[in-house]
Amino acid sequence: MRNQVILITGINGEIGHGLARGLSKRSDTYVVGLDVAPLDKTLRPLCQQFIQGDILDNMLLGRLVAEYEIRTIFHLASILSTKAEYNPETGHRVNVEGTLNLLRLAVEQSQWQGRSVKFIYPSSIAVYWFPTLADKEKTGKVKEEDNCFPTTMYGCNKLYCELLGRYYANYYRQLAADQIKHTIDFRAIRFPGLISAETIPTGGTSDYGPEMLHHAAQNIPYHCFVREDSRLPFMAMPDAVKALLTLEAASNESLHRIVYNVTSFSPSALEIRDIVLNYFPDAAIDFIPHANRQQIVDTWPADVDDGAARHDWDWQPDYDQARAFSEYLVPSIKERYRDTA
Ligand code: SER
Repeated sequence: MRNQVILITGINGEIGHGLARGLSKRSDTYVVGLDVAPLDKTLRPLCQQFIQGDILDNMLLGRLVAEYEIRTIFHLASILSTKAEYNPETGHRVNVEGTLNLLRLAVEQSQWQGRSVKFIYPSSIAVYWFPTLADKEKTGKVKEEDNCFPTTMYGCNKLYCELLGRYYANYYRQLAADQIKHTIDFRAIRFPGLISAETIPTGGTSDYGPEMLHHAAQNIPYHCFVREDSRLPFMAMPDAVKALLTLEAASNESLHRIVYNVTSFSPSALEIRDIVLNYFPDAAIDFIPHANRQQIVDTWPADVDDGAARHDWDWQPDYDQARAFSEYLVPSIKERYRDTA
């Protein structure tokens, strides 16, 4: 008898930390974590089984198929937007080939189990593109079907993997004589920039938000790499985890699409600085825009329309801008850096 498990790829990452904690509150879960790096020690109590390895390693994925009955996959492993721009082919390999490998694993599992395996995929606001700041302003809240012409490798990868998920869920081997019955139940969320008190993101373009706060909490000066007026949607990590778990639990009948926007608040970089200064009055934060990273931020939306998620699976963030900082980020970050600041 194989163990029924939830597989989390990229468990050491930002979302992985939050998700593992969120899942640990459920009594019936057995989490198998996968990551290229050794398991972060704070995750040890939250992860029943850990496998160190690469999502590009098919032998390893074959082993997973043989050993576990995987009911849900949270495929979080990814190379973020800034890092992927420095090495686009590596970004593509990890983000696209890695996802393809996991989709295939999910299909094999579905066939073997005779029922569909859930595949929960975090996509991103990076799939959107606005040619000018005026277009971005005119559009306001972007809908899922609009402006999907990404100009970053990461954005292209995320958009394509959403389509791959749709293909594996609905059209896999559609001409084969032995067409398979049970495929996957693919569900994707386009996340805004995420801010966690526990971890700092690496290689993202929305990182200036979390970096400003984490630097201030450690008394380290911060040079923000975008202009003061740059505006992106953001969300506190507990809400990102809530979104993943709520979408996973939603009934099939209630879902009318495969990909959903979610968001919480949309501060400008200057507003983030002002909030951070309110809690850490001695913080030294200035603005030294990096032209190319700025260009990426300028093409991403300032806000997204998450009406479909609100309608289909009752999505609602718990943390608006004020509450995210006052009740989650600031107290947890102060605790985290208590001995270092
Ligand atoms: N936060 C991600 C990044 O900046 C976007 O999803 O790359």
